[in-house]
Amino acid sequence: MTFLPDASEPWSVVVRLAPDKEDYWVFYDVSHLMGKNLKISADVDEKTLKKIYQADEIHGQDSIYQEKNRPQYHFSTKRGWINDPNGLVFYDGEYHLFYQHNPMETEWENMHWGHAVSADLIHWKELPTALYPDKLGTMFSGSAIIDYQNHAGYNKGKQPAMIAFYTAASDARQVQCMAYSLDKGRTWTKYNKNPIIDSKEKWNSQDTRDPKVFWYEPSKHWVMILNERDGHSIYTANDLKNWTYQSHVSGFWECPELFELPIDGNPNNKKWVMYGATGTYMLGSFDGKVFSPEAGKYLYNSGKLYAAQTYSNIPENDGRRIQIGWGRIQQPNMPFNGMMMLPTELSLRTTKDGPRLFNNPIKETEQLFSKIDSWKNLTSSKANELLHQFSDYDKIRIRTKIKLSHATEAGFNLYAQRMISYDMNANILNTMFYSPQDPTSMELSADIYIDRTSIEVFFDNGIYTSYLERKPDPNNQEGFHFWGNNIEILELEVFEIKGIWK
Ligand code: FRU
Repeated sequence: MTFLPDASEPWSVVVRLAPDKEDYWVFYDVSHLMGKNLKISADVDEKTLKKIYQADEIHGQDSIYQEKNRPQYHFSTKRGWINDPNGLVFYDGEYHLFYQHNPMETEWENMHWGHAVSADLIHWKELPTALYPDKLGTMFSGSAIIDYQNHAGYNKGKQPAMIAFYTAASDARQVQCMAYSLDKGRTWTKYNKNPIIDSKEKWNSQDTRDPKVFWYEPSKHWVMILNERDGHSIYTANDLKNWTYQSHVSGFWECPELFELPIDGNPNNKKWVMYGATGTYMLGSFDGKVFSPEAGKYLYNSGKLYAAQTYSNIPENDGRRIQIGWGRIQQPNMPFNGMMMLPTELSLRTTKDGPRLFNNPIKETEQLFSKIDSWKNLTSSKANELLHQFSDYDKIRIRTKIKLSHATEAGFNLYAQRMISYDMNANILNTMFYSPQDPTSMELSADIYIDRTSIEVFFDNGIYTSYLERKPDPNNQEGFHFWGNNIEILELEVFEIKGIWK
C-alpha cells in the first residue's frame, strides 16, 4: 500500500490483505494527517479494498488488552508486531518507550517507531505512531536524548527538544538520521538534511545501524555509539548533526550500548560497560572517544531477551541504569506479537571472578505483587503438593532457594518446561556455565516471574537471568514440580500479581 498525503512525501508499506475471511484486523494511525487529504493506493481487487475504512475507533477496541494470550504485566502493543525498544528517555515525569513496530501484521516488516509512555515504567499508555517510513527507508532502531543546551538549535524558548536518532533502512543502505519533537515525543519533525551519517562505503557493509547517543560531561560533547559491520563504532559531535568518527571495537552485533556504572555503588570506583544486542558485554575505560576493553566478553542473560536498551535522562538523584529489552516471545493466535520484558536495574558488583553486571527487576515492580504464602525447609514432594493449586495461574511469582544433596542435576518445572535446570556435575545452569559465588555451595536461589506467555528467572540475586517463552507440555499433568536427587526446598514464597491493563 502506498500512502500519498497532500503536501508531504509518500511512503509505502507491505501488507497481505485478506481476500476472504480476515485473520485479524489492524489499524493504521493517520492522526498526524488530520485535516489533509490522504490517497491510499494498493494493488488489490475491489472487494478487498472495500474492507479498508476510516474511523476514530480501532476495530475490536473493546477487547483490547483482554485477549486470551495478552501479557498481563508486561508491555505489548495493541496491534501488530514489535521488536527492539527504541528512544528510551525520561522527560517531565514520563518514561518514553518507543519501539520497532510493524502496525500492519504480526511479523517483522515495515518498521515504524511505535510509542508508549508511563509514569512508573509499569503501567503503559500506547500513543500514536512516532516515526513513519520515508524516502530514505523504514525506521530502524535508535535512541533519544533531551537537548537542554540547544546544541542542535531546535529548542523553543524554555522548551528543550527531544531528539531521536534512528537508522533509515532501504534495500540499498542503512543511514543514520535524526528527528526532533517539541511536544514530549507526540509529533516529530525530521532533520531536513538527513542522513547525518552514511558509512556503507567506509565499512563496505550494509550493516551500519542502531545509533545510541549520550552526553559525555568531562569533554562536554555528544557521543554516538553505532553498530558497524563487526562491532561498535564511536562518533562524537558538538551540535548533534556533524559527527566525527573516532574509534571502533570489534566483537558485537546490533543495538550498541555504552555506559558507566559504579562498582558496588562506590562513586570513586567506576567502570564502563559496552554491550550488543544479545547482552554480551565488555568492561573497560572510556575517554570520550575510545573505549578500551579490559575484560569480557561476559554474558548476564540467556534465552529470549534481545536488543535491550537503557534509559537516558534519568534524574541525577535517581541515578539508576534502567533497562528494557525485547522479549522474542510469540503470542499465539493474537493480533499482536512480541513483548517487552520487565524493566530491570543494571548494576556492577564484585564477584569472586571480578566485577560483573547484575540484572534485577526495578523496585517499581513491587507494587504488582502480594504474598500469598511462604514456607521453609520442605521436601520436594511437599513443595510440589503445596504449589499444585497455583499451576494454572496465568500470572504468578515464585521465589525459592533449593539445596542439592548430590552433585548431580536438579530443577523446577512447570508442566514439564524447565524453569530451573541445574546440572552441578557439568556446572550448567539453564544452558550457561555456572559457578556459584561460593564454589562449594550446594544452594541456588531463583526469583521467577511467570506471565501468560513468558517466564523470567533471576538467579542468585541477579547474577544471571534466564528469559523463556512459557510453553507448557499439554500432555503433562504435574504443574509446578521440583525434581532432583533428595533436594531440599529451603525457601519458597508465592506472590499473586496484579495485571496492568484496565
Ligand atoms: C535488532 C534489529 C536492529 C534493527 C532492528 C530492525 O533486533 O535487527 O539491528 O535496527 O532490529 O527492526
